[in-house]
Amino acid sequence: MLDTTLRDGEQAPGIDFTIEQKVQIAKQLARLGVDVIEAGFPASSEGEFIATKKILEEVGDQTEVIGLARANKYDIDKVIEAGLSSIHVFIATSEIHMKYKLKMTREEVLERIYDNVKYAKSHGLIVEYSPEDATRTDEEFLIKAVKTAIEAGADRINIPDTVGTMTPFTFYDKIKKVVSIAGDKIVSVHCHNDFGLATANSIAGVAAGARQVHVTVNGIGERAGNASLEEVVMVLKKLMGYEVGIKTWLLYETSRLVSELGGIPIPYFKAIVGENAFGHEAGIHVHGVIENPATYEPLSPEEVGNFRRLALGKHSGIHGLNKILEEQGIYLDTEKLKIVLAEIKKKADAGEKISPEDAKNIALKLMNS
Ligand code: KIV
Ligand code: ZN
Repeated sequence: MLDTTLRDGEQAPGIDFTIEQKVQIAKQLARLGVDVIEAGFPASSEGEFIATKKILEEVGDQTEVIGLARANKYDIDKVIEAGLSSIHVFIATSEIHMKYKLKMTREEVLERIYDNVKYAKSHGLIVEYSPEDATRTDEEFLIKAVKTAIEAGADRINIPDTVGTMTPFTFYDKIKKVVSIAGDKIVSVHCHNDFGLATANSIAGVAAGARQVHVTVNGIGERAGNASLEEVVMVLKKLMGYEVGIKTWLLYETSRLVSELGGIPIPYFKAIVGENAFGHEAGIHVHGVIENPATYEPLSPEEVGNFRRLALGKHSGIHGLNKILEEQGIYLDTEKLKIVLAEIKKKADAGEKISPEDAKNIALKLMNS
């Protein structure tokens, strides 16, 4: 798992971590157990340079720390100057990027790949190469770019779905092809979420043979974000049986930390780490969960450090209410529970939100009347 919260995640508008915040997040990521932390883009600013250096000092003995560089010597030298021994070199290979952004020909791009991967390798770095906008690149040219990077000594090939235009089916086929020519080099995937498919595409990439996935905490990143760490980790672990080496019980607190420091709230319905990810209100569901949580929870909240939340509302049933009251030291017989439940439903129908505390107060009032 390569976490790029501190590089691609931070590229999202409105997110600018201080150096101290970046170090704090890096320490948490190392605790969590990610294999590689993409700490930043040292050539982009003095702060980025210092942050990358500091992150290496703080967590470099626990995890690989990598820095981003465009395919030019200035950027590569900055990564070297920061003391990193891993570098992520990228240059775009799609026609649209080469024509309008780089203003370079295919031959010039291939030359840049070769020269700069070779240059980074000549400094003893672990080199990961990304053909930016790989998934909108003519496939023959993409293969040429990948082969050129490998010839120049690249250790890992990362395939970015830069604007998230793949489906799991098309991405699977693409990654299969890249894996088939990559030999013993690690193939990695980097998926953006423009169509809400970043997690699904990442998983398809793994199924096709990718051995590294780029992710960000809470899926933060450019536009609709990147593949979310917590989703990819739990799908790989729970649904596909991979050993991902992540301390999953730290996922929720990691998610909260990044949300607080970045000032970006976590969507209520976000899988794994959302407030409602383990929420139950409907009577039938609450009853099932009380009897056996697996009835309506495909993974347990404890496994990811999140919490089960039994809510009260118009869909509530007697079992859920009983459980919520018992947890607050209130024990009622069935008749009284029915009366409290009727009161709660009346309030909920009128649009009121009922907290466990409200339920307790309604019950106490009834007991005292
Ligand atoms: O999405 C992308 O293409 C990137 C590259 C820098 C790898 O983030
Ligand atoms: Zn990206």
